Formats: sequence, C-alpha cells, structure tokens
Amino acid sequence: MRRPLVAGNWKMHGSRADNATLVHGLLDLLQPGARADVLLCPPFVYLWETGRLVKDSDVALGGQSVCAEAQGAFTGEVSGAMLRDVGCRYVLVGHSERRQVYGESDSLVARKFVAAQASGLVPVLCVGETLDEREAGRTSSVVDRQLDAVLAVTGVGALGSAVIAYEPVWAIGTGRNATPDQAQEVHEAIRAKVAALDGTIADSVRILYGGSVKASNARELFAMPDIDGGLVGGASLKADEFAQICAAAG
Ligand code: PGA
Repeated sequence: MRRPLVAGNWKMHGSRADNATLVHGLLDLLQPGARADVLLCPPFVYLWETGRLVKDSDVALGGQSVCAEAQGAFTGEVSGAMLRDVGCRYVLVGHSERRQVYGESDSLVARKFVAAQASGLVPVLCVGETLDEREAGRTSSVVDRQLDAVLAVTGVGALGSAVIAYEPVWAIGTGRNATPDQAQEVHEAIRAKVAALDGTIADSVRILYGGSVKASNARELFAMPDIDGGLVGGASLKADEFAQICAAAG
C-alpha cells in the first residue's frame, strides 16, 4: 500500500513570525500516528527555523526549488547539499510557477531532478497542463512530454525514490480544482506509463494531486485509487485547514 503524502507549498507569503505561528499551529493540530506523511515546503529563508521546530515530529521538510548545479557561482541559487544541510528530505522540482514565470524548460527540470537525487533529496516532480492545452485535448501529450524529459535522463529506476505531483495549471490558486474523476484519469495514465516501464515502481510511486485542494474537497480527491495525497498551496497557509486536509489523507 502506498502511504499518502500531503505537502504544503507555502510560496512567498507572510513573515518569519507568521511562518513560526503556522508551524506551531500545525504541530498542535496534526494527529500523532496519522497514516499520511506530512511535508512542509516553506520559502528558503524559513527552512532552517522550520526544521528546528519540526525536528522532534514526523513532519518532513522540503525546498520549493533547487539549483541544477552542485555548487559554484550561481547567484541567487540554492544547492541540493545546502537543502540537505538545513534538514530537507524533499524538494519540489518543475512547479508550474517555476516553469511558467521563470521559464524553466523540461530539460532544466530534468537536470534539477538529477541534482536533487544526487544530493540525497527526494524530488517531487510537478507536471500538468494549462487550460489551453486541456481544451485542445493535449493534456496527456503535455504530461507525457514533461515525464519523458526526466525519464530520458534518469531512466525509470529514479522514480523509485521520487514523488510525482499532477498539478493542472488551471487549477493552481484559482479555487477551481480538477474533479476527482478528471484528476484520477490523469493519475491513472501516469501510473500506466510508469507501469509500462516498471510495474513495481508504478505500484509504489506516490502521485499527488495539486491545484485548489481544500478541506472541503480533499477527502473525495484522496479517495481516488491513483491519488496518493496532495500538494497544497493556499490552503496550507491555514493550520486548521491544512491539518484537516492531512486528516483526510490518513
Ligand atoms: P493551490 O497551489 O493549492 O493554491 O492551488 C498548489 C500548488 O501550487 O502547489
């Protein structure tokens, strides 16, 4: 059985004090021994403090992005080793905001995926189509292309220590989530694609859904057979709501 994972992607909101209040609130509300793994991905500058706050809990820490290079003169970037150094176990790779706003290409995302694993991080590889692409019937070709860019570099074995997140771009931050059936259809296709390469990895790889996950829709999304948890943006900024989403997964 795949253990569900719920990840909070806190994006660029609030202050150091807000971040600490949120972590304390969550630690009070999360059910000890719950079935779902919980991952927090605060902005880089709050990772260290968040890591200190969660260190005696089961909550894991992750970065929101990682440099494709291991070290050197890359102003503004943070390496996988640095993320590990402050306690991260995971890192988001290829989030649609990185792809769309910062122009990260499929090949750069693949290099970041490799860099993450090389430093011992579990990459959470985000894939998903825009509204135009969905309406043009191109959802599966876009998701395939994004997955293939990584698989071509790493081979399927790398997915044995990775997480995939299906995040339709039109659902991110819009309040308009994919329906459970729409999400399940894509998750099933992703799992089938992996299964064609390696059945064991396909059975074990966790595929998260992201895009306007809320306490009110989490349970029905997570009930779908190929949805193994969520990548949660806006709703993860409220401790009570995020704790409810975690409970819905476990
Ligand atoms: P959202 O963001 O939950 O606010 O839609 C999801 C994400 O960007 O990972």
